Order: sequence, then structure tokens, then C-alpha cells
Amino acid sequence: MSRSHIDHPDLVRFAEERVNLPHDKALQFRAQARDLRERLEGYLSEHPDFSLKKMLLSGSLAKGTALRTLNDIDVACYISGADAPGGVPKLLNYLADRLRKAYPNFSPDQVKPQTFSVTVSFKGSGLDVDVVPILYDGDPNWYGRLVSQEDGSFLSTCIPRHLEFIRKRKHAHDTDFAQVVRLVKHWAARMKQENESFRFKSFMIELILAQLADQGETFTDYPEALQNFFTYVARTNLRQQIVFEDYYKASVVGSFSEPIKIIDPVNAKNNVCELYTAANADAIVAAALDAGDAIESALYATTKQDTVRYWQKVFGSAFS
Ligand SMILES: Nc1ncnc2c1ncn2[C@@H]1O[C@H](COP(=O)(O)OP(=O)(O)OP(=O)(O)O)[C@@H](O)[C@H]1O
Ligand SMILES: [Mg+2]
Repeated sequence: MSRSHIDHPDLVRFAEERVNLPHDKALQFRAQARDLRERLEGYLSEHPDFSLKKMLLSGSLAKGTALRTLNDIDVACYISGADAPGGVPKLLNYLADRLRKAYPNFSPDQVKPQTFSVTVSFKGSGLDVDVVPILYDGDPNWYGRLVSQEDGSFLSTCIPRHLEFIRKRKHAHDTDFAQVVRLVKHWAARMKQENESFRFKSFMIELILAQLADQGETFTDYPEALQNFFTYVARTNLRQQIVFEDYYKASVVGSFSEPIKIIDPVNAKNNVCELYTAANADAIVAAALDAGDAIESALYATTKQDTVRYWQKVFGSAFS
């Protein structure tokens, strides 16, 4: 392989300059979420029967896999199931109303119900916080019914365990697991820009990479790790079921009829890719084949110009 033109250190630099959310931004946004959580805790200490039980930073900021293009801060909010109204629109109005109560310093229009979540906007600073409801019935491990941000259905799952699951893979690979996640997410975001029907959600990318990690991928060499990711997707046609045994035995997983079967590591009954059609899967596989070919060509290209051009097929013209 010819790596004289572009190699691992070049991808490290590209990631730092163009892909990753800068560290100071991550700290600032996490502080914003912490502020909301602490204010809720303050309110709860004086109103112990309040129906909002807990707030938790979730999503990529919590997992350390956020991109520079991050556009909101995901926070999950546990709502006592017994008190909550049925149906998502009513639930969101209820959540917004409770948040306004807990945050009297916010003007009412800073708290707005959206389609599947409630946004809290901070005047002047930072990003909006996207509060996603979870119906909660007192489970000690904080399982609950999360409102899906894709279609508003209720998903039985456990955010703290998702964070623990990802943390475990991150810690086994220094910064490399999270970095390869961000590089693949960056590629997927470009594919979405080129084709608005392309879908490949972050959690799926993380779970595929987690499976590669569990099978021995080291992620220390980014060109190779990326190539292995794209090869995996192309080789399996994305039709191979992915199951983890962190929280249950593989033998309890039933059969799923959807084309992509990546089973929630914390709930054997939840297929994370339930909403993906065969056409969605095929588009991901085709894009992965192209990306894999481009990396292969980049690694064998003889001139710097050609090498850069191939990498740009994967990461866009910002790659130089
Ligand atoms: N189908 C699902 N089943 C269970 N949990 C889910 C599902 N989809 C999303 N989640 C939960 O929501 C979290 C955030 O979703 P996702 O990973 O797609 O976005 P993200 O990590 O915030 O990435 P980004 O916003 O950068 O695209 C996941 O880490 C997981 O905890
Ligand atoms: Mg997010």
C-alpha cells in the first residue's frame, strides 16, 4: 500500500480541524444541559411529588461522538407515567407546561413543543436544548418508554445503559473508537446532503462499530478502520443480525422481519432499525461500496493529487 501522500496522521488532523466538535464547545453545551438538570433537581427537592423525575444528557454530547455540525443538545426527561396524558401531542404540551413551572426564570415562549420533543432555548447563548420525554414507572435501572424521534412511537429502552455500553467500547480503544464513529458520521452526513432520502442514523453506526470492536477491530489506523467498516457493510449487505450480550443472552432474541436487524443492546425486543426499508439498506450498502472503493484507490494512488481526490469522494472537498 502506498501511504506516502495521505495516511493516518492526515485523517487525525482532518478530524480535529473539520469533523469533531471542539472541546470547549462540548464543555459549554454540557454545562448548559447541567444547568437545566440542576434547576430541575432544585425544584424537585422542594416539590418531591413533581411529575418530572430526572433529566439526563443523552445523544452524541453524552457519548462523546458529537460532530462540529451539532445543532441541538439532547436531553432525556423522565416523566412519571402515572401522571402523564396519553398521546404524543398532549404529552409534549404537558411536558412543556411542567418545564415552564420548574423554570420560572424562562419566559414561556422559550419552552416550545415540537413534533416529538420540547425545545428549551437559552437567550443569546449556545444551542437549543431538545428535551425528549421518557415515560417512567420507577424502574431502578431507569428503563422507560422513550418517544422515538423518528416517528413518535414509544420505545422501551434505557439511556443510562446505552451510555454505559458506548463508554465501555470507548474506554477499550482510547480515543480511537469515538474518532472512527465521528469520521463515519461525517461521511454519512455528506451522503445525506447528496441524497435527501439517504438515512443512516448515528446509533446504527455506533452499534456496527461496537460489533467490529467486539470482534477485534483496534481502530488505531483510521484508513484501515474505515475500510473495515465499509467492507463489513458491503460484505453483509447490512442483512446480518447484530446482537450484543452486555445485558441479555443472544438466545432470548426473537426473530425480526425487518431487513436491517440491529438489536438494542439493552432490550432484546427492540430492533433499532425497525423503520429502515430494503431500499434504505440498499442505499447504505451502495454508498459503502463506493466509499470502500475510493479508500482502496486512495491507498494505491501514485500521486498526491489522485490520493486527495479519492479521499474527497469519502469526506468531501473540505478534505485536503
Ligand atoms: N431506535 C432506538 N431505540 C432505542 N434507543 C434509541 C433509538 N434511537 C435512538 N435511541 C437513543 O437515542 C440516542 C441518540 O440517538 P442517535 O444516536 O441516533 O443520535 P446522536 O448520538 O445524538 O447523534 P447525532 O445527533 O450526532 O446524529 C441513542 O444514543 C439512544 O440512546
Ligand atoms: Mg443528537
